[in-house]
Amino acid sequence: MQTVTTLPNLRQAVDELRGSALKRDTVALVPTMGALHEGHLTLVREAARLADHVAVSIFVNPRQFGPNEDLDAYPRQMAEDSAKLEVEGVALLWAPDMEAMYPAGYATNISVSGVSAGLCGADRPGHFDGVATVVCKLFNQVRPDMALFGEKDWQQLAVIRRMARDLDLTQPSADAIHGVPIVRDPDGLAMSSRNAYLLPEHRAAAATLPRAMDEAIARIRDGQEAAPTLAMLEDQLLGAGFASVDYAELRDADTIALLNGENGNARLFVAARIGGTRLIDNKPVQQ
Ligand code: PAF
Repeated sequence: MQTVTTLPNLRQAVDELRGSALKRDTVALVPTMGALHEGHLTLVREAARLADHVAVSIFVNPRQFGPNEDLDAYPRQMAEDSAKLEVEGVALLWAPDMEAMYPAGYATNISVSGVSAGLCGADRPGHFDGVATVVCKLFNQVRPDMALFGEKDWQQLAVIRRMARDLDLTQPSADAIHGVPIVRDPDGLAMSSRNAYLLPEHRAAAATLPRAMDEAIARIRDGQEAAPTLAMLEDQLLGAGFASVDYAELRDADTIALLNGENGNARLFVAARIGGTRLIDNKPVQQ
């Protein structure tokens, strides 16, 4: 695996991977902020299935963290991450420093309205601007044929696809942005780099989140009303030791519009805090 930290070296490395113009190899990009876990590695494996070569980026993007969020504490473990990617046969690791990503004088922001509103967009003002901006830059830097993102951040995926459509991106095009299903621990908790913050007692209680979501979904599918069912879900989380619930909402999977009940394309989205850690999850109402 080649690790590059500057844009000229990246461009050269990608050109080398692509090979001759006659047989132009395909490149898949997996953008990450590092602290790689099995969820990321699943993205890498799926990328390897779809493309000739896999490039992974690791960049902890300050523009997507709010002033009171965990930017400083966010786990950084480049050597460990790099070793994991080697094992997976990743061809290229793009690890820009701050100066390479946002050089002095940097002044551009990408803001995607609509799908960015509500859910994490409401709780984390500016978060999706930061995501859209860095992902657009990563796309322009690597110019991959396709890119892969985890469905755990479903709203993020919707924002990135909307951006790619709206800006007529071609490398990758919106259709070549793939969502990969959530990878879960055996007790159902969605894997996340932030799970590393959880104390053992909080980690055990955190498994209530996917369980309570399954129960709420079963009730909604049985025809029970969404509002009281979601209120019950919130109570269940608070009873299990969650400190607060940021949201528990049914939304349309594509437009992220708020729904009062099942519409055939509904997804349940939950964000809740336990022991100072904010966990998010989402599941389709119809499996
Ligand atoms: O999902 C993430 O890890 C980040 O939001 C991303 C897409 C790498 C952008 O920084």
